Amino acid sequence: MSEIEDVRALAERLARAAGAIQRDRYETDLDVRTKSASIDLVTEVDHACEALIVETLRAERPADAILAEEGSGEDRPDAAWRWVIDPLDGTMNYAHGYPRFCVSIGVSDADGPAVGMVYDPLLDELFAATRGGGATCNGRPIRVSGERELSRALLATGFAYDVHRSREDNLDHFATFVKQARGLRRDGSAALDLCYVAAGRFDGFWELKLHPWDVAAGNLIVDEAGGRTSDLSGNPPAGDGRETLATNGHLHDAMVELLRR
Ligand code: IPD
Ligand code: CA
Ligand code: CA
Repeated sequence: MSEIEDVRALAERLARAAGAIQRDRYETDLDVRTKSASIDLVTEVDHACEALIVETLRAERPADAILAEEGSGEDRPDAAWRWVIDPLDGTMNYAHGYPRFCVSIGVSDADGPAVGMVYDPLLDELFAATRGGGATCNGRPIRVSGERELSRALLATGFAYDVHRSREDNLDHFATFVKQARGLRRDGSAALDLCYVAAGRFDGFWELKLHPWDVAAGNLIVDEAGGRTSDLSGNPPAGDGRETLATNGHLHDAMVELLRR
């Protein structure tokens, strides 16, 4: 096996193992706490999933850098491989028993994003991509949609945890696209939203103020499914998630144009 195949196999094993924790604890009595705002939640399941992933990586790949949302990783700029982990994407959904959440693991090397792995444990859907190797869902190749008309597009977006107090609240863009697209969803898991663009279920997705762990896997999965990812102006994604746009490619310029207004 090449090293990238090893990394991919480990990412899959970790995503499935963390997903199993989420499935087991789903709709049980959770300890729900808040982080940056009263609507920014974390549960013991977020921490348990992160601990499993980070401890396994420390044991099996001690030289690799780890950026993990709940802060237990160790990011090292000189490492050859870097794992960017959202142990539970969609915590608010999870805490409310709304069945839409996942594990997201993105891995990059010196050439950029190399592996993306997103696992939805309730639907048992594993979205995966390797640089240059295409994207799959449960092993079957996936492809973005061919939709060219915004008026026939199903889009998705989300709102940051500072939405109650920030003026940069995405409501202007939300209003624009609600009037232009066939449909617009806010479903609470950015990593799955990206995978749904990759699978042709959504035609486009944008969000502001995301973080590296929300997009590290999903952006590669969209690119490898033939889609396009960028910041809101159409420039290559910075990797920090602060401005995220992902489309089937056909709708990209039209969405950039409307996001610019
Ligand atoms: C959140 C989800 C949500 C998005 C938020 C993210 P979390 O991640 O991806 O869809 O709108 O901006 O922070 O906190 O559940 O990992
Ligand atoms: Ca997240
Ligand atoms: Ca999370």
